[in-house]
Amino acid sequence: MNRFEGKTALITGGASGIGAATAARLVAEGARVAIVDTNIEKAMEVAADLGGFAVQADVSDPAASAAAVAAAVEAIGPIDVLVNNAGTDIPGFFTKTTPEVWDVVLGINLVGTLAFTHAILGSMQDRRVGAIVNVASEAGRAGSPGNAVYSAAKAGVIGFTKAIAREGARYGVRCNAVAPGPIETPLLNAAAEIFGEVGARMKQGMIDSTVMGRAGEVDAVSAAIAFLASDEASYITGQTLNVSGGLTMS
Ligand SMILES: NC(=O)c1ccc[n+]([C@@H]2O[C@H](COP(=O)([O-])OP(=O)(O)OC[C@H]3O[C@@H](n4cnc5c(N)ncnc54)[C@H](O)[C@@H]3O)[C@@H](O)[C@H]2O)c1
Repeated sequence: MNRFEGKTALITGGASGIGAATAARLVAEGARVAIVDTNIEKAMEVAADLGGFAVQADVSDPAASAAAVAAAVEAIGPIDVLVNNAGTDIPGFFTKTTPEVWDVVLGINLVGTLAFTHAILGSMQDRRVGAIVNVASEAGRAGSPGNAVYSAAKAGVIGFTKAIAREGARYGVRCNAVAPGPIETPLLNAAAEIFGEVGARMKQGMIDSTVMGRAGEVDAVSAAIAFLASDEASYITGQTLNVSGGLTMS
């Protein structure tokens, strides 16, 4: 398939995991990509492999995000596909969290999504073209114990997705989300790294919540993102597609 021939795509958090897999898939189907990440070394490695562009930015900083978009547009042209994928989790039961943790988790997962959409949506609307795919989480649908702040951020992403779908439709811009369940990436092991055995049990609990009884691979998510970003999904907007082995079914 060559669904992205002649298209440009910007992927936040594209240096690792789901973002790197999505960048590779879009390039394989013809896109020119820009990767934005705090980890510029890894972002440059991924971009070099794909013949793409990499720029360093912390997505929770709206000014840095706008500057990264300007650099990406300069390098690959106006953005046709935006994948708001950068995310982080700082697991811990809510009573143990601090406002500093709220700032970081909401900042990266939610404000980052707002910042990149803010910097790109106007151009998409002016050009009457564009697809945005936000990477939410089943945590934002079901609520995940030990991940209350992350759940709040991802529920925010899902609500934002619907509102932008409504605002963008008259300009031909679609906006959808994916809600991954447990996917084998460094993020899935964050709790185990922080809490050891308890964290490992949290991971296993998520896996046990899926009806398929296993974690997913990044390609399962990148395939869903590519579909929603492509013209094959031309009559789909405002939706959140679970990619989670049936963890929730609504
Ligand atoms: N892995 C899972 O089980 C899972 C489940 C549900 C949702 N998700 C979501 O998928 C998305 C991708 O996560 P992943 O699992 O591939 O994790 P990952 O850790 O492999 O990749 C995340 C990437 O985001 C980058 N990043 C983190 N903070 C950033 C910031 N402030 N600015 C710019 N870049 C930043 C990291 O450097 C990294 O390259 C995230 O939004 C995450 O919440 C993952």
